[in-house]
Amino acid sequence: MELSTQSRIPDHVPASLVIEGHPWQGGDVPPHDWLERIAARGGLRYALHGPLPQDDDAGCWIATEAKAIRSILIDHRNFVSRDSTGVGKLLGEDLVLAPLESDAPNHQALRAILQPWFQPAAVKARQERIDALSRDLIERFADRGHCEFVSEFAIRLPTQIFVELMGLPVDDLPQLLEWEYIAMGRKGAHLLAETWLKIRSYMDEAIADRRNAPRDDLLSQIIRSTDARAVDPEGEALGMALILFAAGLDTVVTALGWHFMHLAEHQDEQARLRREPDLIPAAIEELLRLYSFTTLTRMAVRDVEIDGVLIKAGERVVCPTALGSRDPADYVEPGQSDFDRGARRHLAFGFGQHICIGMHLARLELIGAMRAWLAAVPQFRMPKGYRPPWHGGISFGLDELRLEWEPAKNMQEATCGVDE
Ligand code: HEM
Repeated sequence: MELSTQSRIPDHVPASLVIEGHPWQGGDVPPHDWLERIAARGGLRYALHGPLPQDDDAGCWIATEAKAIRSILIDHRNFVSRDSTGVGKLLGEDLVLAPLESDAPNHQALRAILQPWFQPAAVKARQERIDALSRDLIERFADRGHCEFVSEFAIRLPTQIFVELMGLPVDDLPQLLEWEYIAMGRKGAHLLAETWLKIRSYMDEAIADRRNAPRDDLLSQIIRSTDARAVDPEGEALGMALILFAAGLDTVVTALGWHFMHLAEHQDEQARLRREPDLIPAAIEELLRLYSFTTLTRMAVRDVEIDGVLIKAGERVVCPTALGSRDPADYVEPGQSDFDRGARRHLAFGFGQHICIGMHLARLELIGAMRAWLAAVPQFRMPKGYRPPWHGGISFGLDELRLEWEPAKNMQEATCGVDE
C-alpha cells in the first residue's frame, strides 16, 4: 500500500479491513460483480473512496452482509441520514432533502405528508395511465425492429409520470430529462453543482407558482402541509421537491435498464414470461433483488461497535443494496435469477424507517412496462457482441441499452418458434 494511501486510513481502522481499489468503479466488470469481488464478503470493510462523485476522496465503511445492513438501517439512534444525498453540500447550503435526509423525530411527520400519495390504493389509480403511456412509447419504435431502450423508453416513462404527479408542465419534460441525466452524475462530477442549482431554481419557481395558485397536485399538497407545520416552510417544501426528483426518476430508469438487459440476455426467461404473463410481478421482484443498485449512506453520531469493528462518531457507513440483496445467508445461488424463489426479503427498496415510499408506484411502473413490452414487441435481444455501457457510484446503472428484434406482422408470428 502506498504511503499517501496509508496516511488516509484513520488510526483505529485495521489495515486488514481496508479495500484496495475503487469499490464504486468496476471498469469492464459489471458493477454488481465488481463490488462483490472487491468487498470480499464478511463484516465491515473500509474503503478510501465514497460512492458519491463529490465524496470520491472521503473514506467510508462498507457493510457487506444483509444482517449488518439491516441492523445499521434500523438503528436511527446511532446512524443518521443527514447529508446522505450530498445535494445540500453541492448547492452550498444547509438544505435537508426530507424525508430521506431527515431523522427522528422530524422524519415521521415529514414522511406522513407524502404518504397518502404513495399508498397502494392511491398509486393504483395511475395504472391505466402507466399502461397507456408504455404502449404509446413502444408504438414509436416497435416496427423499426430496434431501439435505444434507455433514452427512448426507460427515461421517458417515470419522468412523464413524475411530471403528472407533481403537476409540473408537460412542456418542461425535455428539460427535466436532460437535468435528470446530468444530476445523476452521468456526464461527470464537474456538471453536478451547476445542474442541481438549475433544478433548485426550477423547483423554487414551481413552488412560488403553487403558493400563489394552489392546485390539486402533490407539490401544492407539500406546500400546504409544510406551511401548516410552520417550521421551515420554504426549506422543507424545496427539499421534498428535490428528493422526489432525485429518488423518483433515476431509480425507475435504472431498474428498467437492468431488467430489460436481463431478459435480453436470458432468452428462455423472456419466453417464459411471454407464455406465463401472470409471473411478471414475481419476476420483477426477483430482478429487483438480483439487480439492487442503490448504495445507502448513514453517518455514525456516536462511537459504535459492529462485529468487533469500531466505527467512530462522524464516520460514514455505506450499505450497498447490491450486496445486501445477494447475501448467500438469505438466498441460494444469490447471483442467479430464479423467478420462482419468492424473493421478499431483498433490500432493493431499503429497510427501516426510510424504506422507499415510492415502492408501490415503482412496482406498478416496472410491471406495466414489462407487460406492455412483452405484448407489443417480439422476442428481443442485444446486438451480437454488444455490451451495454454502465456506471457505478451511488446508483449502479446502464448508460445505454441497444435492443433489437424481428419486426413482425403480428405478435403471434413473432412469439412462435422462439428458441429456448
Ligand atoms: C425501482 C425504483 C426505486 C428504488 C430501487 C428505490 C429505492 C429506494 C431506497 C433504497 C430508499 C431508501 C433510502 C435510504 O434508506 O437511505 C428509498 C427511499 C425513498 N424513495 Fe425510492 N426507490 C424507487 C422508486 C421511487 C419512486 C418512484 C419514488 C417517488 C416518486 C421514490 C421516492 C422515495 C423517497 C421520497 C424516499 C425517502 C423515504 C424516507 O426517507 O422516508 N422512490 N428509495
